Amino acid sequence: MSRILVLGGTGYAGSAIVAEAAARGHQVTALSRSLPEKRISRVRYVEGDVTDEAMLSASVRDSDVVVGALAPRGQLASVFREVYRTVMRLADAAGVPLFLVGGASSLRPAPGAERFVADLSHLPAELHDEIRAGAALILEDLPAAPASLDWVFVSPALRFGARMPGERLGRYRLGGDVAVDPEGGAISAPDYALGFVDLIEKGERRREQVNLGN
Ligand SMILES: NC(=O)c1ccc[n+]([C@@H]2O[C@H](COP(=O)([O-])OP(=O)(O)OC[C@H]3O[C@@H](n4cnc5c(N)ncnc54)[C@H](OP(=O)(O)O)[C@@H]3O)[C@@H](O)[C@H]2O)c1
Repeated sequence: MSRILVLGGTGYAGSAIVAEAAARGHQVTALSRSLPEKRISRVRYVEGDVTDEAMLSASVRDSDVVVGALAPRGQLASVFREVYRTVMRLADAAGVPLFLVGGASSLRPAPGAERFVADLSHLPAELHDEIRAGAALILEDLPAAPASLDWVFVSPALRFGARMPGERLGRYRLGGDVAVDPEGGAISAPDYALGFVDLIEKGERRREQVNLGN
């Protein structure tokens, strides 16, 4: 049993990870600015803002694993990378591994090929900033983190998100930085969470990008 802190634990990806980890008996803390109407039993919900470093630091020090399920939208859009750089520093200081929910656009369609993010022209322009901020974590910020920090960046399949929830199939495929389905593919939040918590429990990956598809 691990103490798992999920930053953004009430969001689309975060709440599924919280539910899966709690169902497996982990001691889960879900941090967000507001408390959800529907709560999962045995989960500790904490109201807080990740831009509050003192609060963040105390929460990270109280954990065995930190999960980042924040999104570069709204108030966080302009400080998203800065917040995660702080999280990296705090996790490193506390000696706890960091598992980040990533995006599909930072994956590659084939080994050695350019990442999807290199050409976003087929995607709506209003998504470009969010996609680029997410991709910058794996392209720049995580590789620049101190070598002592263990991190895993977990990209979902392209069709993932609140607008296309899908059903729990109870299975997933795990790949590296090459998309398991180069045509895009889909994964539901429960199946993504299944793979995500398996990654946490196995603890075999270190400083790498992986992806989960169905
Ligand atoms: N196919 C894809 O590649 C794909 C699709 C969807 C998402 N994603 C990625 O997955 C990640 C998570 O996205 P999501 O859709 O799950 O996000 P989401 O549903 O918007 O959830 C964001 C979470 O962060 C919390 N939050 C926001 N600002 C906060 C703050 N200042 N302090 C503390 N908590 C805060 C929110 O709760 P409060 O608002 O109550 O604070 C919520 O719990 C993102 O990086 C996103 O880009 C990728």
